[in-house]
Amino acid sequence: MDFFLLFCKLCRQIRRNPMRKITVLLFVYIFLNILNINALEYEIYDSSDTASYLVAREIVDLVKSKENQPVVLGLATGGTMTSVYSHLKNIIKEECLDLSHVITFNLDEYLDLPLSDPESYHSFMFTNLFETILYSEQNPKGIKRENIHFPNEQDVDLYDKMIESYGNIDLQLLGIGRNGHIGFSEPGTPFDSTTFVVELHQTTREDNARFFGGDVNNVPKKAVTMGIKTIIEAKKIILLAFGDSKKEAVKNAINGEISTDIPASILQKHHNTKFMLDKDAAQLLQNQETIHLFNGKFLKDGKIQPGELWIQNGKFVSEKNNCEIQIDLNGNIVAPGFIDLQINGAFGCDFSRNPEQIEEAAKGLLQYGVTAFLPTVVSSTPETYSKILKKLQPRSYGSSGAEILGIHLEGPYFSSQYGGAHDQFVLQDHYLNDINSIYGDLEGVKIVTLAPEITNGISLINELSARGIVVSMGHSAATYVEALNGIEAGALLATHLFNAMTPYHHRNPGIIGAALIEPKLNYSIIVDGFHLCPETVKLCYQLNPQGLILVTDATEALGLKDGIYHLGNKCTEVLGNKIYIAGSSTIAGSNISMNMALKNLIIFTGCAIEEALEAASKKPAQLIGIYPTKGSLEVGADADFVVLSDSLDVIETYIGGELSFQQGG
Ligand code: F6R
Repeated sequence: MDFFLLFCKLCRQIRRNPMRKITVLLFVYIFLNILNINALEYEIYDSSDTASYLVAREIVDLVKSKENQPVVLGLATGGTMTSVYSHLKNIIKEECLDLSHVITFNLDEYLDLPLSDPESYHSFMFTNLFETILYSEQNPKGIKRENIHFPNEQDVDLYDKMIESYGNIDLQLLGIGRNGHIGFSEPGTPFDSTTFVVELHQTTREDNARFFGGDVNNVPKKAVTMGIKTIIEAKKIILLAFGDSKKEAVKNAINGEISTDIPASILQKHHNTKFMLDKDAAQLLQNQETIHLFNGKFLKDGKIQPGELWIQNGKFVSEKNNCEIQIDLNGNIVAPGFIDLQINGAFGCDFSRNPEQIEEAAKGLLQYGVTAFLPTVVSSTPETYSKILKKLQPRSYGSSGAEILGIHLEGPYFSSQYGGAHDQFVLQDHYLNDINSIYGDLEGVKIVTLAPEITNGISLINELSARGIVVSMGHSAATYVEALNGIEAGALLATHLFNAMTPYHHRNPGIIGAALIEPKLNYSIIVDGFHLCPETVKLCYQLNPQGLILVTDATEALGLKDGIYHLGNKCTEVLGNKIYIAGSSTIAGSNISMNMALKNLIIFTGCAIEEALEAASKKPAQLIGIYPTKGSLEVGADADFVVLSDSLDVIETYIGGELSFQQGG
């Protein structure tokens, strides 16, 4: 039986009879199992501390979301977990989190080591987490002692039964051993194991010798550990791995065969597991095979020209013989992947409102040829910045999503006259010479849009530029002279030129005049045919083609149908290509995709395809200082590229040399 035809038939039946939905879902589940389609999700972070923070945040959000029901956490120990628990303690304290409904089950415990020993996992957990969050009269919201569980040799069966009695673990944290163990389930442990006593392998004891004065003989020989069956019954699993020593285990777990030789490989079968890695632990996830791209037209040196390219370890390399993978491009155009420097959201994720769903947006953007982007945050309060900026930190999703390069902070140092869709109540017309007072930590921020004419605006530009952050001028009533002062202080860009700024006046050309005649200033434009009429786009192009950078300024409605959506804390109404703050005539971002903007640019201006492609790839990369690593097809660059038809439809998108989107795929 052709599975696809059967699947289509069942889909039609759903429409006729919704009761059959469950049957169909079951069918899909079995179908995927037959095909053994087990793509494990992973995220690669520049900083392991950011990954640890995000895990802590996720635990806190889970605890909050289940206010009056038990929340069951499976906890791990080991070096990797220490920074997770340190962030967790801080957030719990800052937010006075109620832990009265939290139940914890630890993964494992050494045998033949008294619980009071500082290296027992019991001591580890109390020192690193429980001591400061335990219930007491002074801390009535703390976790109850009786809700904290560790496995012990005597009651292995009881341990599993207790976990089961709570309906299994809601969120299980895991580290990974160099040999691929999870918990202390060492290689060879059957996948259907429940809590059991294990003899620790030599590698595990050697690795843990660092906690025992460096002497492997001091490391206990046995432990009691949660079994693999118990672990994979958890509703969600997050595995953290940092450092070079974990790279083989991570590669085998994610890309290897599912085998008891690598216990963590069973996670490929778990429907809700995420690996959170740093670059060292992820280094072997890149395709090691050499790839040869041929029969294409490549954008190189500003010209689309026939040629070939070679890829190894995720990067373009010079000519290679005998490549393992040959890709025939069928005469299509190959350009560097598009980079969107201003995008507020997509596919139902508004980065200022529900940043935890950014992965959905990152995945969706691939179909438009976007391989990297700067999630953009609307003008917000210090409380909001402190909550969301950590969630938007740089990370790569491998080939399953566009890379997050950092953050674009749009506001709040704006002219109140040109606040546009931003919340008037949070705008600041005065910089108080304390950058952290509003934004908090600027880690991961790549661009800040501000109005140079606000009080102390120039010192704000100086301060941001000195930190290597690109300053863009926008939402501004700046005069031409004020705009020049901004450029002098370091501003490199004008944000969505013409929109939300003083209109061009023949005796006061403002930022618009500066952007169109000052070669030092780049400018971004939204080419959706609505923010700017085609003639204005043409004017920009004709006066300063070099400075033109395409941005979408898209909102969460990108990729979705007309309806009611959000931009920050405001509701928006989407009708065709027009988005307004609900019930008003204030324009609120766009729903244009990058490849549509690119096509529009060519239609509106008559520019060459090469110029349009560079306005979406090379130019944004240059502006934020990542060219030629990104935004180019040169040897040494990241192999992030888009394959386009002659009519500039996206046929395929590749990240790190791996196919990440295919039209009709
Ligand atoms: C600890 C545990 C182990 C560790 C793993 C990594 O509870 O279950 O699986 O997570 O051995 O240890 P570190 O983080 O020390 O490298």
